[in-house]
Amino acid sequence: MRPTDCLTGEELDAEQLHELIDRAAHLKASPHASAALAGRTVALIFQRHSTRTRVSFEVGIHELGGHPMVLRTEDTQLARGESIRDTAHVLSRHVAAIGIRTGPDELVAELAEHATVPVINMLTELHHPCQAFADLLTLRESFGHLEGLKLAYVGDGNNVARSLAIIGARAGLTVAVAAPDGYQLEPVAGAQLTDDPYEAVRDANAVYTDVWVSMNDSPDSAAARMQALRPYQLSDELLAAAAPGAIALHCLPAHPGEEITESVLYGERQRIWDQAENRRHAQKALLELLCA
Ligand code: CP
Ligand code: NVA
Repeated sequence: MRPTDCLTGEELDAEQLHELIDRAAHLKASPHASAALAGRTVALIFQRHSTRTRVSFEVGIHELGGHPMVLRTEDTQLARGESIRDTAHVLSRHVAAIGIRTGPDELVAELAEHATVPVINMLTELHHPCQAFADLLTLRESFGHLEGLKLAYVGDGNNVARSLAIIGARAGLTVAVAAPDGYQLEPVAGAQLTDDPYEAVRDANAVYTDVWVSMNDSPDSAAARMQALRPYQLSDELLAAAAPGAIALHCLPAHPGEEITESVLYGERQRIWDQAENRRHAQKALLELLCA
């Protein structure tokens, strides 16, 4: 059955996930091959900052023949207290799909409950599925396949870690997450959780990290986070402990010297800028799937 929304990525079964990555690769090779959104508009609600998500969705929707309509919360009646339910009803009368970047996952679920068009999670406190789709495409480009690969995530057990664990496991990857006590994910089916970064990266084909203070984290927690997460930095030394030929990944924005060293971020083994580009191709495939 075709998914109606993408809130966590779990709406896609393994076959749909592989088809999505195949289609994303095809659209990367032929960016104007699809006019799936011709004459249609997609609303993109941003309640949080963004560079990659906004740019990749805007350009991708344009390439599909559609019109991206960016709505910054402070410009809408949401900022004056109009409910997400009423917003869902109104937007559904005009647009083909709604993307939203916000904090609470419950808010996105409420939007999807009341919208009659597909809703896409463009990042919440708990999930970032669009990032994980792009990362699967990057892994497949780097290794030619997904099944059997091991992905190690080191650092904060955050939204990106959770989406990689859920969606990566569904795609047939082994996903290991190394995080300190208090920052680890809850158990995720198919994912290996540890507090030892060197154990996580053993035999890993890719080593991934993300910021130590996310946009939905309280700035007051920053000092404690920095201290707890310091041993989890993605460095040349940690990368050398992974499988031969392992690549380094980061969803960006990066803080060189914190969760990743400058030498890894700009080094020969990173595929980080490919990840940033692949957001567009993966999201185009997702929009095609949801809006067909
Ligand atoms: N990776 C990512 O989602 O980047 P932005 O926050 O810039 O959208
Ligand atoms: N974990 C980060 C991801 C940014 C794309 C955050 O939520 O801020």
